[in-house]
Amino acid sequence: MNFNNKNVLITGGTTGIGLATAKAFIQQGAHVMITGKNVDNLQKAAAEINDIKLKTVVSDTANLTDIGTLEKTIVQSGKKLDVLFLNAGVSKFATIESTSVADFDLQFNINVKGLFFTLQKMIPHLQDGASVVFTSSATSTASHSQLSVYSATKSAIDTIARVAATELAERNIRVNIISPGPIDTPILGKAMSADEAKATQDFYKTGGLIPLKKIGTPEEVAEAVLFLSATTSSFITGASLSIDGGTALRR
Ligand SMILES: NC(=O)c1ccc[n+]([C@@H]2O[C@H](COP(=O)([O-])OP(=O)(O)OC[C@H]3O[C@@H](n4cnc5c(N)ncnc54)[C@H](OP(=O)(O)O)[C@@H]3O)[C@@H](O)[C@H]2O)c1
Repeated sequence: MNFNNKNVLITGGTTGIGLATAKAFIQQGAHVMITGKNVDNLQKAAAEINDIKLKTVVSDTANLTDIGTLEKTIVQSGKKLDVLFLNAGVSKFATIESTSVADFDLQFNINVKGLFFTLQKMIPHLQDGASVVFTSSATSTASHSQLSVYSATKSAIDTIARVAATELAERNIRVNIISPGPIDTPILGKAMSADEAKATQDFYKTGGLIPLKKIGTPEEVAEAVLFLSATTSSFITGASLSIDGGTALRR
């Protein structure tokens, strides 16, 4: 897949899936802008990629002013976007009874409100024929304990993405969804204690829940994002692509 001189914006591109996708696009010749809230993580990502085709922008996706700043950065670049990868996200594990208002708001503000208003602000800056990819999750259609709010944010994203596919089709802008299962990224370590995260990772790594008996890699997800962003998928829009080692088969 050739992305020579294409312009790509990735929200949440500092670690995990976003970082692997940034690397993959740059390897294929794209100019990539990544966002993140954590300045240290942005600097680490920039040092790791170490390529002039990468730009970093500090932007808290839950903050509408920051989304406005991101929009200004795109306008000042004088370029239209060929690919918008709406990927920033967080998860918190808690039963319905124990979920705090703060964690409810955090997940909805980042995973739903942030992605929605980033899309809204970027629509005028998308090339006709551009590709938008949303990161959902295998949990969006599952009923796992302790993931009610997170799963609901991802269900909301699925719906927003499909409506966006309908609304943007007249400009030949395709909008698709990736739906990863368990992927080996830092997300679990941010969602629970270090011991719990390790136990959960080990459960996945030994094939728990996953028919292909391994945890996915961020690079495997990145390949799917590139496919949905390339002309090889030119007749695909409004679709959800599972990258889950067959996890959904076990529901
Ligand atoms: N890993 C999995 O098993 C899995 C499965 C299904 C779906 N997903 C989804 O995949 C996406 C990426 O997650 P990941 O697994 O790659 O985890 P990750 O390594 O923790 O990456 C999350 C990314 O989102 C960014 N982010 C978080 N809060 C933000 C905010 N307020 N403003 C801007 N950026 C923010 C992080 O940036 P900072 O450096 O600023 O924190 C980071 O770049 C998420 O939407 C997640 O829900 C993951």
